[in-house]
Amino acid sequence: MVKPNLKVKIGGLELRNPVIVASGTFGSGEEYKDLLDLDKIGAIVTKSITLRPREGNPPPRVIETPSGMLNSIGLQNDGIDAFIKDKITFLNKIKTAVIVSIAAHNIDDYAEIAGKLDKIRRVDAIEINISCPNVKGGLEFAREPGSAAAVVAKVRAVSRKPLITKLSPNVKDITEIAMAAEDAGSDAVSLVNTFAGMAIDISAKRSVLGNVVGGLSGPAIKPIALRMVWETAKKVKIPVIGMGGIMGYEDALEFIIAGAAAVEIGTVNFVNPRAATDIIGGIEKYMRQEKIKNIKELTGCLRT
Ligand SMILES: Cc1cc2nc3c(=O)[nH]c(=O)nc-3n(C[C@H](O)[C@H](O)[C@H](O)COP(=O)(O)O)c2cc1C
Repeated sequence: MVKPNLKVKIGGLELRNPVIVASGTFGSGEEYKDLLDLDKIGAIVTKSITLRPREGNPPPRVIETPSGMLNSIGLQNDGIDAFIKDKITFLNKIKTAVIVSIAAHNIDDYAEIAGKLDKIRRVDAIEINISCPNVKGGLEFAREPGSAAAVVAKVRAVSRKPLITKLSPNVKDITEIAMAAEDAGSDAVSLVNTFAGMAIDISAKRSVLGNVVGGLSGPAIKPIALRMVWETAKKVKIPVIGMGGIMGYEDALEFIIAGAAAVEIGTVNFVNPRAATDIIGGIEKYMRQEKIKNIKELTGCLRT
C-alpha cells in the first residue's frame, strides 16, 4: 500500500500530519531539539506569550494527581519583544509549522501582540489563548460568546495569519463559544485547555499550589475533552483541534474519529519527550492496517 496521506489543513495552513505539540508543554521547540526530530511534528505551539514579561505564580506550581497533573504556572514568559528577539532565529532553522500562542488581560494587548507577530514570516499561525484557568481574570474572555468574539474580531483586524482560538472547558456550553469564535473570523478552534482544580495538604490545611487553584490536564480529563470535541465538531464548519489527555496514538485517533481535524498533545511530552513522533508513527500504522489512504477519511467518521 502507498504511504498514507496524513496532511491536514488548518485555515490556509497545511500541516504534514495532524499531531501538534500543545502550548506550555514544549517551550518554544528548542528545548526538545536533541530529543526528537522536530521536523517530523505537524506543528509546534509555543508557550503563551503576553505583551510584557510575566513572572508567573508563586511555587509550588506543578503537582501530580491520580492520572494527571495540576499546574498553576500562570503564564510565566519574557514578553513578546524578547520572544521575537530570542526565539525566531532557532525556529527559522526548522521546517515544522510554528503556531505562536498569545494571551492577554485586555483586548488591546491581544491586538498589539498579534500585530507584532503579523510581520514575522516564520510565524505560520496564531493560537489565541482566551482560556488560562490559573491567572486572575484569564478566563474572562473564554466564558461568554460576546467577549470571546470581541477578542477574535480585534485580532482578525490586525492579522493576516490563520487564527486558532483556544477554548476553555470551564464554561456552561463550549459549543456556543466555538460558534462565536467562528463567526468572529477564527479559522479554527482548539479545545480544551485545562480544567480548573485544586489539591489540599491536610496537615497544613493549605492548598498545595501556591496559587490555590490550578489547571488539571492528562488522562483524567480525556473522556470529558473528547465529548466536548465531538459536540463542537458538529456545530462549527471550521476545523476543530482536539486535545486533553492524549497519551498514545489510540487516544489521538479517538479525537479524530470524534471530529478533530488535528490533535494537540501536552502532558504526555513530560512523560515521553518523543511522544509526538511515536503518535504519528502509530496513526500511520493504524491507517495501513485499516487501509485508510487519507487521514481526512477518519475525521468525524464516528458511527452513532
Ligand atoms: C505545565 C503546563 C503549562 C501549560 N501552559 C499553557 C499555556 O501557556 N498556554 C495554553 O494555551 N495552554 C497551556 N497549557 C494547557 C495545554 O496546552 C493543554 O491545553 C492541556 O494541558 C490539555 O492537554 P493535555 O491533557 O494533553 O496536557 C499548559 C499545560 C501544562 C500541563
